[in-house]
Amino acid sequence: MVKTIELVDGVVKMLDQTKLPREVVYVDCKDYRMVAKGIKDLWIRGAPAIGIAASMGIAIGAQEIKTDNYHDFIAGLEPVFQTLLETRPTAVNIQWAVDRTRKLLDARKNEPVDALKTFLNEEANRVLESDIEINKTIGKWGSQFIKDGDTIITHCNAGSLATGGYGTATGPIRVAVEQGKNIHVYADETRPVLQGCRLTSWELMEDNIPVTLITDNSAGAILRKGEINLAIVGTDRTVANGDVANKIGTYSLAVLCKENGVPFYVAAPLSSIDFSIPTGDLIPIEERGPEEVTHVFGCHIAPEGVKVRNIAFDVTPAKYVTGIITEKGVFRPEDLHTLNEPGADLESILLKV
Ligand code: MRU
Repeated sequence: MVKTIELVDGVVKMLDQTKLPREVVYVDCKDYRMVAKGIKDLWIRGAPAIGIAASMGIAIGAQEIKTDNYHDFIAGLEPVFQTLLETRPTAVNIQWAVDRTRKLLDARKNEPVDALKTFLNEEANRVLESDIEINKTIGKWGSQFIKDGDTIITHCNAGSLATGGYGTATGPIRVAVEQGKNIHVYADETRPVLQGCRLTSWELMEDNIPVTLITDNSAGAILRKGEINLAIVGTDRTVANGDVANKIGTYSLAVLCKENGVPFYVAAPLSSIDFSIPTGDLIPIEERGPEEVTHVFGCHIAPEGVKVRNIAFDVTPAKYVTGIITEKGVFRPEDLHTLNEPGADLESILLKV
């Protein structure tokens, strides 16, 4: 499985996903500003992967702060946090990485600044390692819904490239394959950045998982023919009532699944769940520049000067979601809030086959 990102000797090595599948090129980000640029320009993308990149950006940003004083150190981290937070607004994982860092440092107030810098480096690597473990756990929980012979549709890329490795939506798919189930994946191409075409189909082929690439517009026709058994997608931010923000086109796919009686699952690590937001209407939605729509690999395909709206994410209302697959188990969207209630009996509300 290809490596998405790593932190080696104070340098963040990021796979430049804008060049895939034609070239496998790693970029060395030597400071946090370059990490932020990499996130904004989609060298790295996918909610968990940008959360990991943010943790690594914080770790190398901390090295630049020249002080022995704890409070000055924390103040020095503020521009690092803000620069990273300003890159991409929809995925909650950057905020998750910042909040986590603040909390961890607050609990280590009495330690020397040098020790805190070392700690942040180690912590960034732990975030990466634990992300892979979380995806494998999501995979185990989700694989129960995949039967031998099933065809699964997915949208965008919520695979190993979008995470530390293994993938969230691809987690159940990979586990099903490891269990010896004969399955097939349909990958929506995902206009305009083509994550399904360039990334999902590539990474599944690399791992010998049967995949067919389809245009986004074909999903309805194929679902109507009864050729799809279930959908599994990722999320950039799932909120307290179970509404799900994910790549633009996810909502259309979810509605088509409901119309055709096909279960629609969302793979969501806890780092992508934002319990502070009650409903999906309040999720900030990123809009990106027109070039992603008017150009394909540098080639102009639209009339010069045409007006463009490039909405990067949409919100799928909870009523279209069959189950949310987390590392704690699979839950109906309406039960998701229980995960945020200390001491709640999760076992009794788990969604099972
Ligand atoms: O714009 P992108 O490529 O960052 O969008 C990615 C997605 O929408 C993914 O489905 C989501 O981040 C989940 S990744 C496990």
